[in-house]
Amino acid sequence: MTSKYLYDQGWSEERARLAGIEAMWDVGTRDVLARHGAQPGAAALEVGAGGGSVVAWLAEQVGPRGRVLATDLDPRFVEPLASDVVEVRRADVVEDELPVGEFDVVHTRLVLEHLSGRDAALDRLVRALKPGGWLVVEDYDWTSFGFDPDGEVESRAANAVVALMTQAGFDATFGRRVVSELAARGLTDVHGEARALVIDSGHPGSAFFTLSFDQLAPATVQAGLLTDADVTAMRGRLQADDWHVFTPTVVAALGRKPGADPAE
Ligand SMILES: C[S@@+](CC[C@H](N)C(=O)[O-])C[C@H]1O[C@@H](n2cnc3c(N)ncnc32)[C@H](O)[C@@H]1O
Repeated sequence: MTSKYLYDQGWSEERARLAGIEAMWDVGTRDVLARHGAQPGAAALEVGAGGGSVVAWLAEQVGPRGRVLATDLDPRFVEPLASDVVEVRRADVVEDELPVGEFDVVHTRLVLEHLSGRDAALDRLVRALKPGGWLVVEDYDWTSFGFDPDGEVESRAANAVVALMTQAGFDATFGRRVVSELAARGLTDVHGEARALVIDSGHPGSAFFTLSFDQLAPATVQAGLLTDADVTAMRGRLQADDWHVFTPTVVAALGRKPGADPAE
């Protein structure tokens, strides 16, 4: 199996977990996309659209003359955004075809890092671009990640979650390699931009860390990576309001399909 995404869109708190991602990264994502193809009249593809905040923003940017195709393995949260401008499709980026040569900008955030089939997915995203169109791939490099204070409980719990995800195909340092992956696919103007935050337990982004742990904790126990006592201890730590988290670093890798500038 090439795609084994561990988080469940049907989990009662999943939309809140995705909102944590949006609270941390949407500002930077909008800035990057506004400089790389998200213009009035553009055709945009958002892959692994999740909660849909980027889709809603893209629809505003491209306007009524533009088009946004939003895909996800489970598109339940983006379906309400369907409109004359926004088309929503259920699609696995590793297995399912996407339109070829149609988009001025193709974006995906925190998706490819999860997929052992990420090479095939990246090839597909490149094929979806028009000549001159921009590919924007955002993924984490977890090297910067850590809690402060960073005791044994926090380290063990964080390592267990990453280990469980790694067993399912996750690459915790894909963000560090993703610029090279774009260059290897013959794109031009290839470069990267990176950003990280230090947030406290009251920041809306902290929901990503607390709810990711909540959702995967039972599976870490089942896999022998944590004990019930570890889970209880970590839940206690997360409920305290005395911690900061140094987030993983989000790397935005950017590159252009060789050929004409679609705006020209
Ligand atoms: C961590 S969430 C990120 C959501 C959104 N991109 C964001 O940054 O706010 C990953 C998303 O990728 C979707 N996903 C996972 N595997 C996928 C696949 N093989 N094809 C398409 N989408 C996938 C999930 O359903 C989920 O919505």
